[in-house]
This record gives sequence, C-alpha cells and structure tokens, in this order.
Amino acid sequence: MDSKVLDRYNSAEGATDYLGKFKRRWTERVNDRNEQRVLRGLIRAAGIGKVPGPALDLPCGYGRLYPIAREISDRVVEGDWSFPLLQAARARESGDASLGSAFGYVRGTALCLPFRDGAFDLVLSVRLCHHIDAREERIQYLREILRVSAKWVVFTYFDETSLKNRIRRFNRRWSGKRPKSTLHPEEVARVAREQGFEVIRAVWLARLFSGHRYMVLRRRG
Ligand SMILES: C[S@@+](CC[C@H](N)C(=O)[O-])C[C@H]1O[C@@H](n2cnc3c(N)ncnc32)[C@H](O)[C@@H]1O
Repeated sequence: MDSKVLDRYNSAEGATDYLGKFKRRWTERVNDRNEQRVLRGLIRAAGIGKVPGPALDLPCGYGRLYPIAREISDRVVEGDWSFPLLQAARARESGDASLGSAFGYVRGTALCLPFRDGAFDLVLSVRLCHHIDAREERIQYLREILRVSAKWVVFTYFDETSLKNRIRRFNRRWSGKRPKSTLHPEEVARVAREQGFEVIRAVWLARLFSGHRYMVLRRRG
C-alpha cells in the first residue's frame, strides 16, 4: 500500500479533499453520475436484485455509493481505513432521512478484514485496488473481499489490458511516470476460481478514457 496515499486519506485534510472531489468541478460531477449509472446498470444486468443478508461497502469513503448499496441490502456495513472519512459517512447518512444510518461503521484494512468467512451477501469495493502498490497485496485484497462474501462481490481494479494503461506504459519512456497498479483480468478470474467464485460480468468505466474496470463475481453453487 502506498503509505502516503493511506496517510492522506486518514488525515482530516485529505479526507476533506476527497469529500469535495466529486462536487468541485463539473467534470467530476459528470464522472460521478456516469459511474453510478454504470454501477446500477451492472447490478441490474448481473441480476443481483435485493439480497436478504447484510452487505459490506468497503472502502466507503464518505458514503458516496451508500444509496446504491442500500438498494441491494437493508443492512449495509460501511467500512474504511480512514477515521475522518468514516465519520463523514456516518454524519452524511444519519442526516439522510430517506435512508438513515448504516447497520454499522467499521474501521479496518481491506488487507485483513475483521469479518468471518461469508459474513456478507454482497461486498461492494470501489476504487481501492489501484491504490495498492504491491501486486501480492492487490491479490491479498481480492482474496479478502472474496473470503467475506457468501454470494456476490462487485469491485473495481485498474486493468492491465486497458488502452489507458498501454498508452501510459508506452509514454513512460518520456514521461517518467510510474506504472499504474494494475491487475490482469485472467489473474482476477484465476483468484476468483481458487476462492470458489466465477466472473459474471466486467465493464469499463469509460472504454477509452479510463482503465478502471468494474467486475461482478458470484460464488459458485
Ligand atoms: C478513492 S476512495 C474510494 C471510496 C469509495 N469507494 C468511493 O468510490 O467513493 C479510496 C478509499 O480507500 C480507503 N482506503 C485506503 N486504503 C485502505 C485500506 N487498506 N483498507 C480500507 N480502506 C482503505 C481510503 O480511506 C478511501 O476512503
């Protein structure tokens, strides 16, 4: 994990910055709306519907995707490593008369989740994988979110095969930018198989402009 990124999210200043991220510029507001549309479409297409048990939204950040998680489960647990962001999620959700507070708020790391195997019917884990520097830790993270799900996992990762990643790799000779923290879709499918899951659907956030990919995995049997 990039400790600078982690420390920033866990600081009051970094949390405030992330809180405003999707509101500051109109482009970010459009991106946010587009992402929520893609996610809802994916959930519908995968036939997830309403699950009877609890769902985990981790990392929840300030609760941006809480309304979507609540469409799937009446008992959503919000989890994050950042205290200030968890506090922000709690304040935002308790002030929302239509949805109300989450079932629980848990501070924990996605690399070692404080939940038993199969504790949730669905795990939603968005925009974390690409912040994890070491490949082994990205795999460990994926194993963890699969471990605590009894049925569904919806997660995002930065795809090695994406056009954006290929352009970045090509430009590195001149730009000197560090490579993105990616996963290969076959690697995701392999880890999923090992953990008893199958890939149900995978969609790009924006085919040409984003390397982020949403994936839906379902436990077999
Ligand atoms: C880009 S935000 C995504 C938040 C939310 N899923 C969303 O899409 O709005 C990344 C989040 O990951 C959290 N985070 C970073 N490292 C983490 C870790 N090891 N375990 C749990 N959360 C972590 C940060 O605190 C931050 O809230």
